[in-house]
Amino acid sequence: MTTTAAWQERWERSMLGNYGTPPIALVSGSGTHVTDADGREYLDLLGGIAVSAIGHAHPALVRAIADQAATLVHTSNLAIHPRGVELAERLIALSGWDARVFFAQDGATANEAALKIVRRHAAAQRPDGTRQRIVAMEGGFHGRTMGALAVTGNPAKRDPFAPFGHEVTFVPFGDAAAVEAAMGPDVAAVILEPVQGENGVIVPPPGFLGEVRAITRRHDALLVVDEVQSGMGRTGAWFASTAAGIVPDVMTLAKGIAGGLPLGAVLVTGPARDALRPGDHGTTFGGNPVACAAALAVIDTIERDGLLANARAQGAALAHGIRDLASPHIREVRGVGLWVGVEFTGPIAGAVEVALRARGVLVNAAKPQVLRLAPPLTITADEVTAFLRALEAALAEVP
Ligand SMILES: Cc1ncc(COP(=O)(O)O)c(C=O)c1O
Repeated sequence: MTTTAAWQERWERSMLGNYGTPPIALVSGSGTHVTDADGREYLDLLGGIAVSAIGHAHPALVRAIADQAATLVHTSNLAIHPRGVELAERLIALSGWDARVFFAQDGATANEAALKIVRRHAAAQRPDGTRQRIVAMEGGFHGRTMGALAVTGNPAKRDPFAPFGHEVTFVPFGDAAAVEAAMGPDVAAVILEPVQGENGVIVPPPGFLGEVRAITRRHDALLVVDEVQSGMGRTGAWFASTAAGIVPDVMTLAKGIAGGLPLGAVLVTGPARDALRPGDHGTTFGGNPVACAAALAVIDTIERDGLLANARAQGAALAHGIRDLASPHIREVRGVGLWVGVEFTGPIAGAVEVALRARGVLVNAAKPQVLRLAPPLTITADEVTAFLRALEAALAEVP
C-alpha cells in the first residue's frame, strides 16, 4: 500500500464525507511545487484554489509568520494589535478609497459581515423593514455558512438583524438590463463577483461592473463586490473593482490575502461605512495577528517582486499558449490575469485533471466542462511552458 493510500484509509475512518476522499495527500511545498506523501512532486497550477498567492514556503511569508508567532499569536478583539491596524491601513491605501475595514476568517465570514452591514444600512434607510431584498447573480458563489445568529438567544445581538434568511432575486451574470429590471424600492443591495470563479472563470462583458454601480446608485441600493477570489492581485490588479474604475460600497476579500493563512477582510466606503455600531458584529479569530502579519508579507512581496505585472504577463502567456495548442477538445480559453478557465467541448475536465496529475501537474475541474487554473502569482515563464507541454500531452490522451 502506498503512503497516500494509507492516509486515504485513515481519512475515510476519521473525516466526514462532505469532500469525498481526495486523490492526493500533500505534505510539503516550495515555490510553485508541492510534494505528496509518496514523494512525488507536482507543478501547482491550482495554488490551493487561488490561495497560495506568493507560492509555497516563500521565505518572506515563513519569516513573518514565525516572527509574529514568537511575539504574539492572539489578543481577542478587546485589544488593538499593531499588525491588524497596519494591514487595514495597507488595504485602504491599495484601494485608494476612504474605507474602513473589518477582518473575518475567510470568504464566507467576510460575506456574512457584508450582509449584516447591508441589513443594518437598509434598516436605517427604512426602519419599517421593507428594504431587505438582495439581487444576486445566477452562477455566483459567496460561501457556505448558514445562520449562527439565527440560533443565538441574545436579543441584543440577534434582533437588529432579524429576520433570518434573505429574499433574493437571481439575475443572469453580465446582464445589466436584468439587474435594472430586478431593482425596486425593496432592494437593499446587489451582490456579485467581478469574475465568477467557482462558476468556471466567467468574465462579464466590459463595462458591466460600471453599469451595475450606476444602477445601484440610481436606486440608492448598496453594491457589494465579492473579491474573495478576484482580489489581491489574481487579475493582475490589486482589485478587479479598482481595475474597472468603480468604488463599491462593500468589498470582501479572502483567499490569497494572507498567502494561505485563514483571513477575510471587508472594506466599506460611503453611506454604509457607519452602519455597524459597537456590539453589532464580531468574531473570535478574525484578523488574528499571525494572519495579519502574513498578509502584510504577501502585500510587500507582491509589491517588491512586481507580481501584479507577472500575473498579467504569465496569465497572458498561459491563455495564449493554451489557445495555440489548437486542441479540438477546447471550445474557449478565458480569464484575466493569472486566472484562466479552459472550457472543453464535452465533460472531460475531470479526465484532463487526472491525466495532468499523472504527469505531475495539479489543476482543478471547476465544472465538468471547465478546467480552472489559479497558480501562485510567482509562476515563471519556464513553469508556464512546462504546464503547456503537459496539457498538450494530457489532451492527446483524453478520448
Ligand atoms: C467569490 C467567492 N466568495 C466566497 C467564497 C467562500 O470563501 P471561503 O471558502 O473562504 O469561505 C469563495 C470560495 O471559493 C469565492 O470564490
